[in-house]
Amino acid sequence: MRAGRVSVLAVLFPARSLALLLQDAGAGAAEPTGPLPTGAAISAGSGTATPLSTGMVAWIHIPKTGASSPPCPFAKTLYHNRHLCPDFPVDRFLRRDGRVEDFLRCSAKLPWSCVNQFCHGAVHELFYGSHRGVGKLVNVVKDHMVGFFRQPEERLIAAWHRGKHSWKGPAPQNISEFADRIQGCQARTLTMDGWRKWEICGNPHKPSKEQVQQAVQLVSNMPFVGLAEHWDFSICLFHKVMNGTCADHDFVNMRPGSKHSNKGDSVKSLLGDWTDPYDTPLYDAAQVRFWALMAENGLNRETCARICAGATKSRPFAVHHEGAHTSNLISHFDWPGRPFYDADSAVDVDYNYV
Ligand SMILES: *[C@@H]1O[C@H](CO)[C@@H](O)[C@H](O)[C@H]1NC(C)=O
Ligand SMILES: *[C@@H]1O[C@H](CO)[C@@H](O)[C@H](O)[C@H]1NC(C)=O
Repeated sequence: MRAGRVSVLAVLFPARSLALLLQDAGAGAAEPTGPLPTGAAISAGSGTATPLSTGMVAWIHIPKTGASSPPCPFAKTLYHNRHLCPDFPVDRFLRRDGRVEDFLRCSAKLPWSCVNQFCHGAVHELFYGSHRGVGKLVNVVKDHMVGFFRQPEERLIAAWHRGKHSWKGPAPQNISEFADRIQGCQARTLTMDGWRKWEICGNPHKPSKEQVQQAVQLVSNMPFVGLAEHWDFSICLFHKVMNGTCADHDFVNMRPGSKHSNKGDSVKSLLGDWTDPYDTPLYDAAQVRFWALMAENGLNRETCARICAGATKSRPFAVHHEGAHTSNLISHFDWPGRPFYDADSAVDVDYNYV
């Protein structure tokens, strides 16, 4: 089975283009820091191609979508999936200040990514959790892209608060200047080449109409789309499509109770009525795709409670009946006691809960 996967990859990622890509990644590397993977696992295959494993994924990692801020809940969900990464150490969890690269470390020789060693090609070695743009690799990864999206202005404000994420050069004077460059980050990630966050998310290039359309097209066909705003259902959906097992570590960014009531105000007070003209249509498409996948897979609170029965401590889909007559508030997609998942938990939350 493993050999089959390798030979499939040999077909999918011709050695020459991969070598070029790796070169590109290696030039002036700041992230990843160490030597790059050799691609040995990929060039090793020479057998006949078998149908592509349905478990194959390329993680398209848009910054500040809640997927990787320490404690990196989605990285854990992905790499702890035994179908995808049978050799990932079961007892490995990311430190609070760790990076995905640290999570994937397996030896001193290949310090930044041992994704092939752990996952044998089921996770694309270039889309292991870096902020790489899809760009020219679109035809290689388009049927395998998984990733999270987020309401564009919320994402932008989160990036602003998080060290002006993806910005390069003299610091922006104010959030308007920041927004003017960073807008379109999500659309660029799906359409541009490059792997450094400032080449993609922080690139001043304004996506063209065609790029936005292409991004919309891509998201509309993704086998898994997560939404930062629906962390619980996103995790449930991922496990459902990837035959994974829910665990408490998927829900470490959970906080009891409901959303901060001032969240909407915060967008308004910082950005006024400004909206991101590039990422808004993309996010709309991501929402459509997300709910279509939810429906296709028959997911709702009840089915997700079963799928995530393994999360015994967090019990993310449990109804809490504190205030007696609440049963009429229970719907398939909302319920009393539904926890709030903080996409920016690295900023202001203590991680006492694991
Ligand atoms: C999940 O399991 C089903 C049923 O056994 C199978 O058809 C499907 O291909 C599996 N999907 C993955 C991603 O392994
Ligand atoms: C923000 O900074 C830019 C660049 O310095 C400046 O042109 C603009 O007037 C500032 N906007 C506000 C609202 O302060």
